[in-house]
Amino acid sequence: MSVILGIDIGGSGIKGAPVDTASGKLLKERHRIPTPEGAHPDAVKGVVAELAKHFGVDGPIGVTFPGIVQHGRTLSAANVDKAWIGLDADALFTEATGQAVHLINDADAAGLAEARFGAGAGVNGTVLVLTFGTGIGSALIHNGVLVPNTELGHLWLRDREAEDWASDRARERDDLNWKQWSKRVSTYLQHLELLFSPDLFIIGGGVSKKADKWQEHIKLERSRFVPAKLLNEAGIVGAAMMAQEGGPEAQQQEISPTSQSPAPKPASKAGKKK
Ligand code: BGC
Repeated sequence: MSVILGIDIGGSGIKGAPVDTASGKLLKERHRIPTPEGAHPDAVKGVVAELAKHFGVDGPIGVTFPGIVQHGRTLSAANVDKAWIGLDADALFTEATGQAVHLINDADAAGLAEARFGAGAGVNGTVLVLTFGTGIGSALIHNGVLVPNTELGHLWLRDREAEDWASDRARERDDLNWKQWSKRVSTYLQHLELLFSPDLFIIGGGVSKKADKWQEHIKLERSRFVPAKLLNEAGIVGAAMMAQEGGPEAQQQEISPTSQSPAPKPASKAGKKK
């Protein structure tokens, strides 16, 4: 059994628990510390170190972040302090905890966990996981392998970013009832359906707990959709899964010689300048 500490950085709380990465189960009760005001990296670093100490870890740690994470650096900060942009957050947290820390985008973590242990377990093909909260997070997974940092909440729709129009925060801000909000979500999902033809949409984030309020109002042309199952554990579980594999870029699937793409053909004469 491989046990890895997963930590989920959210807008109001930073939560952690040790995870059995083979079963996706939390092995101890989650420990939650309120997110420091403004979520500045230095303050968040202190909380991550405190959580590591609380669980007494000795081994890699997976941490989620609500923005783009590439090669250990946090590259965007739509809903957190701008000091995160360009920061080597893997190094910052590794130094603070004395353990190897791997960061992963929050929706990517939740998506991986849902695809393997939650609503997408056993589903082959393309699974698109969307989290509706303050923003909209996305995770694109094909046959269990993640394409990190898809950021589909920032897709331009109706003259604005989709998350500004269809997130749960937009529902509250515009005082929409569930049916009105579902209409916006359906427009957004239908657009994604056209672009990605997913075999399954998984709808996560805070709204997944209230699926009875919106589920019947979502209308799609040809894809299936289901509410997420792991609720507020998905980020912790996905972060631990990713840390075990050595970070988001390290996730690999064996490619058999027959499934490799053919070597590129030399340019044809027709394409050459005379
Ligand atoms: C961020 C994403 C994040 C999502 C949910 C968006 O604003 O750009 O990286 O996954 O919010 O937190």
